[in-house]
Amino acid sequence: MIDFPDKRPENHPMPFFRDNIEAMEAYIPGAPADEAGVVKLNQNENPYPPSPKAIEAMRQFDGASLRLYPDPLAGGFCRAAAAVLDVPAERILVGDGSDDLIIMIARAALGAGRKVVITDPTFPYYFTQGLVENARIVSVPAQEDFSLPIEEMAAAGGDVTFLAAPNSPTGATADLEKLGWLASQLKGLLVIDEAYADFAGASALSLVGRRPNVIILRTLSKGYSLAGLRLGFAVLDGPLKNGLLKTKSIYNVGPLPAAVGAAAMADQAYHRLCVEKILAERTRLAAALAGRGFTVWPSAANFLMVRPGDGDAGAVYHRLKSRGVLVRYFHTDRMRDKLRISIGTRQENEILLGKL
Ligand SMILES: Cc1ncc(COP(=O)(O)O)c(C=O)c1O
Repeated sequence: MIDFPDKRPENHPMPFFRDNIEAMEAYIPGAPADEAGVVKLNQNENPYPPSPKAIEAMRQFDGASLRLYPDPLAGGFCRAAAAVLDVPAERILVGDGSDDLIIMIARAALGAGRKVVITDPTFPYYFTQGLVENARIVSVPAQEDFSLPIEEMAAAGGDVTFLAAPNSPTGATADLEKLGWLASQLKGLLVIDEAYADFAGASALSLVGRRPNVIILRTLSKGYSLAGLRLGFAVLDGPLKNGLLKTKSIYNVGPLPAAVGAAAMADQAYHRLCVEKILAERTRLAAALAGRGFTVWPSAANFLMVRPGDGDAGAVYHRLKSRGVLVRYFHTDRMRDKLRISIGTRQENEILLGKL
């Protein structure tokens, strides 16, 4: 092979990527459990296994069918999800996890000169995608008590406003009336990320169709114990769906996740059972932590934001980690004295309390 000389000057290599990509930090996911027996309460996964019907759908899956390209819209899954949520199947758009939908929205609606509004603290991936698209990022601090700053987010006037309801890592949420009001105030898109809505017993789904700018995001990662499957979806009006189809990768959800996801969503009895157990444990764990001197914020999700009595959350995080319990610690201004703890099984929560 001829070894052609490299055109890039040795001392000043040109960057391969755009300036904003070179300058930004990559998103840092929560640590995976690298040892067996670790109690993993750091990524808000569901502590119970997926529905037996979902596992059965995986077993029954016809491997030979993988020869063919799948339905790019995963229509079978959309019909199953639509039946459960009582929305038209045409209003559903699938994603390789809901983070895939966040990327599609950012690619379609953000860019230089466009503004994305988020709150702080929140799911950091909105920020990451704002940076990728070189958008102006306006981060509106949550209220003193960590409730969502709805009026301030409306006033910020984003081309896209991302709001997780319930929010992570705080667990705070907003009622339908407030979210409807926010949608009515915005000229741009309002993305209501309902990753944790299964635990909140409330949803803003009814805004779709009533407000032309609302996109609801859902995932099977939390309420349906399928974080490893990678399946999420948006519920949105036709014109918004047509826009996002332009930035969607063509076959973003394969037939296996679609079939397993459809079976999981159809098994609502199992889903409700898991959610009820998590809610009961959330109440019990919140009381037990408060009894140990922690400040515990109200949570509508499957995790708790807590502050140890002495505020040294970093020390508690490291101590728990060395004893085989993973929780989430964020190095940001308002979060460095707090931890986010996912609700585990009763046994896992007992281990956590024991180690504390
Ligand atoms: C608020 C929020 N939205 C979206 C996601 C991403 O979920 P998925 O697994 O569907 O990509 C998470 C994951 O933790 C989350 O906390």
